[in-house]
Order: sequence, then C-alpha cells, then structure tokens
Amino acid sequence: MADQSRAPYLEALLEYAARDPRRLHVPGHKGGPAADPLLREAIGEPALALDIPALTWGIDVGPEPTPFQEAQSLAAEAWGAARSWFLCNGASQANHVALLTLAHAGERVVVQRNAHSSTVDGCILAGLTPCFVAPALDPELGIAHCLTPDDLDAALRDAPDAVGATAVSPTYFGAVADVAGLAEVAHSHGVPLVVDEAWGAHMAFHEDLPAHALSLGADLVVSSTHKIVGSLTQSAMVHLGRAAEGRIDENVVDRAVTLVESTSPNSLLLGSLDAARRLAATRGHELLGETIAAMSEVRVSVRAIGGLDVLDERMIGAPGVYDYDPLRLAIDVRGTGASGYEVASALREQSEVILELAGENVIVGVFGMAEEAAPQGRRLVAGLKGAVESLGDRGDRTREEFAPPPPWGELAMSPREAFLGPQEVVGVQEAAGRIATESLAAYPPGIPNVLPGERLTVETLDYIQTTLELGGSLRGASDRRLRTVRVVAE
Ligand SMILES: Cc1ncc(COP(=O)(O)O)c(C=O)c1O
Repeated sequence: MADQSRAPYLEALLEYAARDPRRLHVPGHKGGPAADPLLREAIGEPALALDIPALTWGIDVGPEPTPFQEAQSLAAEAWGAARSWFLCNGASQANHVALLTLAHAGERVVVQRNAHSSTVDGCILAGLTPCFVAPALDPELGIAHCLTPDDLDAALRDAPDAVGATAVSPTYFGAVADVAGLAEVAHSHGVPLVVDEAWGAHMAFHEDLPAHALSLGADLVVSSTHKIVGSLTQSAMVHLGRAAEGRIDENVVDRAVTLVESTSPNSLLLGSLDAARRLAATRGHELLGETIAAMSEVRVSVRAIGGLDVLDERMIGAPGVYDYDPLRLAIDVRGTGASGYEVASALREQSEVILELAGENVIVGVFGMAEEAAPQGRRLVAGLKGAVESLGDRGDRTREEFAPPPPWGELAMSPREAFLGPQEVVGVQEAAGRIATESLAAYPPGIPNVLPGERLTVETLDYIQTTLELGGSLRGASDRRLRTVRVVAE
C-alpha cells in the first residue's frame, strides 16, 4: 500500500512555487505578479503561484514516475482501479471519454434513457448510435430510478451488435443500481459496462455506504470527484476497472482522454484532485461516519415537519432501487400541497439555504464528505419549517396521479447526423413528424422525451406542453416554453 497521506502532484506544485523560479512560460499572470489586482485579491497570491502549466520538469515530466503519474496511481489505488485519469472538464469529459472508447469496437451502444446529457453528447462526438433502455420509474414520486439487470439484459438481446452499455448510479435522488447484476449481464453478452458514478465518488470510503461500482465489476467508471468528495469544481476522474482487460483497452482510454482535453490542463484543478484523494483515503472513513450519523438525525427532523417526508432506506427494493446513498437528502414535499419549486424558492428567499435540485415533488440537498453536516442540517431544518409555514396549507398532493411519459419516438438518424446536419426552427404546431436536433426533457420525471435524431410525435409534444402548463419545466430545449423546436431541415 502506497503512502496515501502524500499528495505528490500538489506537493510538486508547492515546491515549484517555493523555489520562485523566473517564469518565462505561460500563463501570462506569471504566478501572480502580472494578474489583475482584483483577481489577486479574490483568489489570493498562493493560488496564482500554483497555476503552473503542463509539461513542467519535476511535475509532469522528468524521471518517472513523475509526481503527476504518482498522484494518479495513488487515486487508482484508493478507488480500487487498474488505472485512473485526472480530468479537468468534469464527469462530462469522462462520459465523452467513455463513449469515444466504446466507439472503437463498433457502432451501437446501449444507453440508459435518462443518462446525463454528456452521455448523449458523447454519442454525438463518437458517432455512436444509442439503443435506449428505460430506467425504472417511481409512479408515486414521478422520478426515475436506476436501470435493472433484467431491463439491461432485454436491451442487449435486442441490440446484439451493441459494443457496451452505460448506466447511471447513484441517481440525483440517491437511488443506487444493482451494479454487480448489471455488470454480470453486460459481461454475459460479452460487452463492457460503463457506470456513470458521477454522484458516488465517496462510496469507496465507508462500509455503511452502498458498495461502489469499481468494487462490483464495472469496467469504466465516471466519477465527478468535485461533487461530494470536494475537489474543485470541474475536476473529475475516469477509472478503469481491475477486471476490464479484454473488454476495454487502457491505451484507447488514454488517447480518448487527450482527445477531449485541453493541452493546458489547470494545475489547480488537478492538484485539488490529488488533495481530495488524500483526504478521502486518510480521513474519509471518519468524516463520512460523522456525516452519515448527522444525516440520519437530519432525516428524522425533516420528517417531523408537517407535510414533508424523506427518501431513505424505505425505497430500497422498489424497482430500480438496489440501495440508497444517505449523503443525498431527497425530500418529498407533496404533503405540503406546494411544489418543490415553491419550497426551494421560499427556502432561498427566507433563509439563504440553496438546494442542489428542485422538482415538482422532490427537492434535493447534497451533503459533502467532510461537511459539518449537523449544524448545516439544523439550518436546513429551521429553514424548511419556516418555508413550509409561510406557504400555508394547500392540501395534500400525495395521492395525485402521475402520468407516465409516452414512448419516445423512432430514431430516424444518429444523434451525430442530427447534430451536424442542416437545421431549422419550426413552430411547435408544425413539429410533429420532424426529426429533432435537440433534447427535450420534461421535469418531472426528467427522462428525455426527445433526443437528437428522434422523430417528434404529437403525443410527446402534447405531454411536454401539459407538463409545462402544470408548472413543470423543460430541460435541453432551445425554447424552454416549447413554442418552437430545432429540427433537421428536410
Ligand atoms: C449523472 C451525471 N453524470 C455526469 C455529470 C457531469 O458532471 P460534471 O458536471 O462534473 O461534468 C452529471 C452532472 O450533474 C451527472 O449528474
């Protein structure tokens, strides 16, 4: 076991800055002196001094392993990967890398329908045609959970030429998939499983958390390290599974990483990954233990507020919910009669408590690995009490029926062809039958109703319009009120 208390890359940056070299290289702020004073004041001289370009001797070039290589090896060891790559463009870049990697093997890929937009964009970049598979839907809350192994099996049978499958776990709402089951199914069809674990980088560091995808046989894991573990925004990792050999070529992943990466990756972002790994590996267990305990008290207090309930272990066993992540605080607001949007706005306006996500029925607060969860939780609970009181009694919406979305339209061309082809904007009345060039995802439940390359149907357009009229929202569309749609010019 290597010394996880070290942060070789960040230490090398600090040493470089401490030597105070004559910087005849980029960036033009020269480590601080040439920066705008407001920037200096905002982020501080020490941060600017650590903004050091790639290909610097003793940091990422020089005798091997370089500090940069050592840092990535420590991360691979900490997460249990065969190899890990540090990324500067978020888990979005990791998804692009994953799809570009899969595209080496063929032309089609099985994709969970409510995958993050970067997965669909990855298909556009890679020229892959997605075969979509629906996640399980929660008919009460109107939210999407995870993909089940049976559904993946059916999808892979329907697409025998697919070169891989990609699934999301955990979801925004904290539901965790049966990753071991998904991996077994994918491998039985002879293809790799990519798990978008953007929300689960912390799960490797505490036994009371759901097991993480790399430990369950996933071949490539997308990790948005900044989300919960606390590296700087935009930093992320992609991990190669230890048993992925024969299914995924490490050198192909490596080339895909450089293809979608700047030649000037930001050293502060990379250094923050090294530091976040150090914190997680050395103190993650203790810190997560505290956060998990505090969160369980926060849940009790939230449930004591009239009209509010929380999503917790009671949802385990529902279709598409194999486990749940207790660091996500998803609150069911239906009992207040108000929408999640209204509760979130009241919270923001009255208490300056800012949530990660608000939907029609559920609001979500995210807690970090090293957060002081107890005081933050108390502040949230006090704010929620005030917000719910101020919204008044609006009746209970718990029994409202949720209409599931209509089936998505036929894929008339690949997302890439739709994205690159000639486009025009048409009024929504003329849009049925045309091929979309953009994504349309009505919330709730947020499963894309339309993705680039799909033919628009009357049912889908009506459904989105009704959701909007009922106070829902539309993501991905260039016109969020859906008066117009961008379609392929025919
Ligand atoms: C499931 C999932 N994958 C990928 C991403 C992209 O992550 P990033 O913002 O780090 O690029 C997100 C972002 O929210 C996400 O929810």
